[in-house]
Amino acid sequence: MAYRVAVVGATGAVGREMLKTLYERKFPISEVAAVASARSAGVQVSFGEETILTVKNLDKFDFAGWDIALFSIGEAISGVHAPRAGAAGCVVIDNSSQFRMEADVPLIVPEVNPQAIAQFSKRNIIANPNCSTIQMVVALKPLHDKFKIKRVVVSTYQSVSGAGKEGMDELLANTKVHYVHDKNPPQVFQKDIAFNVIPQIASFMDDGSTKEEWKMAVETRKILDPNIAVIATCVRVPVFIGHAEAVHVEFEQPVTVNEARAVLRAAPGLIVHDQRVDGGYITPAEAQGEDAVYVSRIRKDSTVPHGLAFWCVSDNLRKGAALNAVQIAEYLVAHKMLANKTEKAA
Ligand SMILES: NC(=O)c1ccc[n+]([C@@H]2O[C@H](COP(=O)([O-])OP(=O)(O)OC[C@H]3O[C@@H](n4cnc5c(N)ncnc54)[C@H](OP(=O)(O)O)[C@@H]3O)[C@@H](O)[C@H]2O)c1
Repeated sequence: MAYRVAVVGATGAVGREMLKTLYERKFPISEVAAVASARSAGVQVSFGEETILTVKNLDKFDFAGWDIALFSIGEAISGVHAPRAGAAGCVVIDNSSQFRMEADVPLIVPEVNPQAIAQFSKRNIIANPNCSTIQMVVALKPLHDKFKIKRVVVSTYQSVSGAGKEGMDELLANTKVHYVHDKNPPQVFQKDIAFNVIPQIASFMDDGSTKEEWKMAVETRKILDPNIAVIATCVRVPVFIGHAEAVHVEFEQPVTVNEARAVLRAAPGLIVHDQRVDGGYITPAEAQGEDAVYVSRIRKDSTVPHGLAFWCVSDNLRKGAALNAVQIAEYLVAHKMLANKTEKAA
């Protein structure tokens, strides 16, 4: 069987990666549509090496008859169009934060909680978690299964592509003007991102944390275990693609570095690259274009009873967004969840 798939936000950083990922992984497609705003209607985007798609206007796009829509547009627009697509019988996999914490919308990382996908049928919407959450829970899941996590302290080093194509443009433009001893006033970021780091991603909340930090905590609990305490500090860094995280975990049970390494090595979606020599770890530049979540710098945290620290890196546009969404779609196909839906509707 092959499916009609719409990529909504197809001109964006994540949308383009979605088209690439669908093609590379040979997702069973009978027809693919590229959809974006009215501004991009008529623009051409490529799907694989031979197919050129003409972008359609989301406002006029009819989702009836489409099996899956991969959404990567902002929260507000997803809030309008994802329910419209779902009501038309199309299963939406949404990258925005609009629906993530809603009880009847599953929040899925296929390596971590695939069993929760089945709850999608009420609204036909499945949420993709935040990019920083995804890579962290892929690494935490096997450790939690074995040693039971109590608390996580994480500091992120997040690339500018996490803020979309405009974030990447701003890093490039601001870096260039530094060389002519000039400055660009920041527009996407709160301060100059060139040769700098910014301890703010998204807006502030009443308790002094940012929305990104809050998302990492609540999403981790929804995906993995509601009893895990999480405190995050999310920082934007002048890297184009790839998020890094320094993760400190406190467990209920004792854990040695060798045990943790063995558990992580056996887990799906993870590559352990941990050599205690110069350069024996993975950096964001090396993770770019790769599917895996990389774990390095595994060591004991002796400041708490059963503690472990590690470094975790992944391509935020791939595993942090497009790949995770496509893996969810693959799961729906492999478990005949789309076919069942069509049969029920018929
Ligand atoms: N970047 C990441 O690492 C990442 C990771 C996880 C989740 N996400 C989420 O994914 C979404 C997209 O992120 P991105 O990084 O791809 O952003 P982006 O590069 O700025 O792209 C935004 C996309 O949304 C489309 N869009 C904007 N307004 C629209 C409208 N009114 N109607 C229809 N389409 C509209 C844009 O189309 P036009 O070109 O026509 O404006 C473009 O295709 C966001 O919700 C983001 O939070 C991003």
